Amino acid sequence: MSPIRLGVIGLRGMGGGHVRAVSKHPDARLLAVAEIDASLAETVAGRHDARAYTDYRRMLEEQPLDGVIIATPHVLHAPMTLNALDAGMHVLIEKPIAMRVSEGDRMVHRAEERGLILAVGHNYRTFPGNLMLKRLIDEGQVGPLYRVHWQWLENRPDSYYQRDRWRCTWRQAGGGVLMNQTSHDLDLLCWLVGKPVEVSAMIGNYAHTHEVEDTVVATIRFQTGAYATLQLSTCGSSLNSRHLWGEQGEIVFRDTRNANVHIPEHFQIGRYRTSFHETIRTDPNIAGQPDISWEDIDCSGLEHPSLLDSFINAVRGKGRPVTDGVSALQTLELINAIILSGVRKRVVTLPIDRDDYDAVFEDLCRGNYALK
Ligand SMILES: NC(=O)c1ccc[n+]([C@@H]2O[C@H](COP(=O)([O-])OP(=O)(O)OC[C@H]3O[C@@H](n4cnc5c(N)ncnc54)[C@H](O)[C@@H]3O)[C@@H](O)[C@H]2O)c1
Repeated sequence: MSPIRLGVIGLRGMGGGHVRAVSKHPDARLLAVAEIDASLAETVAGRHDARAYTDYRRMLEEQPLDGVIIATPHVLHAPMTLNALDAGMHVLIEKPIAMRVSEGDRMVHRAEERGLILAVGHNYRTFPGNLMLKRLIDEGQVGPLYRVHWQWLENRPDSYYQRDRWRCTWRQAGGGVLMNQTSHDLDLLCWLVGKPVEVSAMIGNYAHTHEVEDTVVATIRFQTGAYATLQLSTCGSSLNSRHLWGEQGEIVFRDTRNANVHIPEHFQIGRYRTSFHETIRTDPNIAGQPDISWEDIDCSGLEHPSLLDSFINAVRGKGRPVTDGVSALQTLELINAIILSGVRKRVVTLPIDRDDYDAVFEDLCRGNYALK
């Protein structure tokens, strides 16, 4: 079978990784790259025997591509994806799918209309720890989930943001810690627990000089009836901590080295001898605790196709991408709902009103809501 012909748009950060992955992949061929930094475009193209463009639209017009991978600032996700789909190309767009759910709706709809694959770069779903967490939950090893506490903390000084100004603004990034860092966590949360239906949140900028939020505290109710509490911040020493409680047990996942960890330092499942409902109903001890047996979880051997493998397979009609547009849109809607709740200071139910969010977003871009 001939290799899938791909182009990559945006090369500096994540795009560089995509170029390397495509060029090494036996079932893909890198035909072209597009990047506004002409010298970077030439260097990367030269290294991989590809054609360089500074205008991605010319690349879409001139190159016989099956698909494109887009790794540009968030403001460009929707227009670039729509243009690529209109040119008949499959798309792997970096996370988040877009900045506003109204844009995401259009992207998902256009891909469906044209019968093209829309995959999104939520690669944390391929990490061994997260795959094991998903397996334990899906196998019902702790029973139906009813509560989750999730923290993602990692210090990002102003110097990090000064390097890439686009990350600092509502207009170009669509948000701060929610869009940039923890869209992965919110994606995992929806993947593990299901559809969010109600959100209450506080968002703020605790310590940074930029305008977008650096700290979020939120509560979420899911369609299953489960509740989650979240603390997300780029002010704090590294901590990736998740505690999930089900009817039959609980899972602790914790790491202090790096908040984007693949295999956590501490990963345990605790199984209850009797279910929660039974303990609550029958334990004669007025301070009775569940009787738990703990086990360490080893997730080191878990293998999963990469995002690129799954994208190529999906383009060939063999399976679905790891994260498709529809599920990434659910994650984006949750992010938008958290921002809406934080700004309006009220409980928000999902689906959110698209026009309402677009209006709030425009106000945020104009500086009409101060987060300090
Ligand atoms: N999946 C992950 O773990 C992960 C990690 C980092 C970043 N990301 C995502 O990747 C995307 C890019 O982030 P980054 O950190 O690589 O940013 P970056 O600023 O390092 O790179 C963006 C690149 O896009 C280029 N660009 C800007 N406008 C362009 C245009 N009109 N045409 C062509 N190129 C253009 C820039 O010149 C730059 O080279 C974002 O969506 C980000 O959230 C994902």
